[in-house]
Amino acid sequence: MTPTDPIIQPAAHTADSASASGPTPSRRAFLARSGGTAAALALPAPFIHAQPAKLKVGMMLPSSGAFAALGTAINNGFKMAVAERGGKIGGREIEYFTVDDESNPAKAPENTNRLVQRDKVDVLVGTVHSGVALGMAKIARETGTLLLIPNAGADDITGPMCSPNIFRTSFSNWQPVHPLGKVMAERGHKTAVWISWKYAAGDESGASFKQGFERAGGKVVKELGLPFPNVEFQPLLAEIAALKPDAVACFFAGAGAAKFVADYAAAGLKDKIPLYGSGFLTDGVLQAVQAQAQGLMTTLHYADSLPSARDKEFRTRYAVAYKMQPDVYAVQGYDTGLVLAQAMEAVKGDFGNKQGLIKAMEGVKVDSPRGTWTMSKAHNPIQDIYLRRVEGEQNKYVSVAWKALADPARGCKLG
Ligand code: PHB
Repeated sequence: MTPTDPIIQPAAHTADSASASGPTPSRRAFLARSGGTAAALALPAPFIHAQPAKLKVGMMLPSSGAFAALGTAINNGFKMAVAERGGKIGGREIEYFTVDDESNPAKAPENTNRLVQRDKVDVLVGTVHSGVALGMAKIARETGTLLLIPNAGADDITGPMCSPNIFRTSFSNWQPVHPLGKVMAERGHKTAVWISWKYAAGDESGASFKQGFERAGGKVVKELGLPFPNVEFQPLLAEIAALKPDAVACFFAGAGAAKFVADYAAAGLKDKIPLYGSGFLTDGVLQAVQAQAQGLMTTLHYADSLPSARDKEFRTRYAVAYKMQPDVYAVQGYDTGLVLAQAMEAVKGDFGNKQGLIKAMEGVKVDSPRGTWTMSKAHNPIQDIYLRRVEGEQNKYVSVAWKALADPARGCKLG
């Protein structure tokens, strides 16, 4: 459908109630072109609005639980990208449908189906937790719904489960920690303990760290884990103290990350055994644990003080709009909005042009606050990974740990 297809509706009729249970865009277009036109001729002029249908976006993010703040930042970032375009993308206003996924994989099928089957969204945006995203990706593959993933790193989604209609705008779990092992080995650490939650994100980050550290000559002497979102770290910290590795590396995020940083310091380990992690350990949590986090070094595809005008301008506008500092999650949400907007502009708002949309997303070059990135053949960002150090309330940029890192995308048959 073209963005100028007329949608016929009485002036008092709200777009929300008209489209929440209405036909899909292509069906709306079909109706507008056939029976709709005859009805329009019979209506007095004030009742005729030539405006494109709203694009229905299903936001499936956590607004409760350990990752609630991450969901909020993604939502803020996405909406900021839309606001920069006057509230429209590809000339179309947006109608949002939201679901709190609670970072609960068991509820993923029901929550995703609510958006896909009941609300009939055009695009799904979500989510944070890898286990929930795996459930979303399964349904997106089955139904052909366009899915944009603004965080969850589950390797399989851009590996064996990759699909033409699924794009990730964040990272794969393999990516941010892959350079960490090399960094730690270069800093003279020969042995390390890995610790994380036992689920896809923790396990895959651990495997990637081990690969990088051992290739660089180090040895992972023990892998410790606890179920998500458990934060009873004491017994594991006692085990670390007994093992006495040269260093510890971890994946934790959100409220659990803040608790881990605090507990690590409280156990007296911070000054004895250096703690490293993927940057999720210290992103978005520094207000809560600033003192205990000072000096921690992490790797991630964003830092708070990147030497770029683009990032500075983004950070200023975000802080003004939301009265808080942006973090990696805000950037990922923002980039998701940029990718969708660029693709919608490429097809001139014609969401029915699926091939055109997919082609535009595959060829996207994102002028992101994190630095310019491109989409891999498996639909995952090819991006720089930074080494950062906590100073004050910021994850300060130290250096580029790995330039233009692409996920290996094992098992993906696209492209
Ligand atoms: C994930 O589950 O994939 C995940 C969650 C939170 C993060 C990063 C990855 O910060």
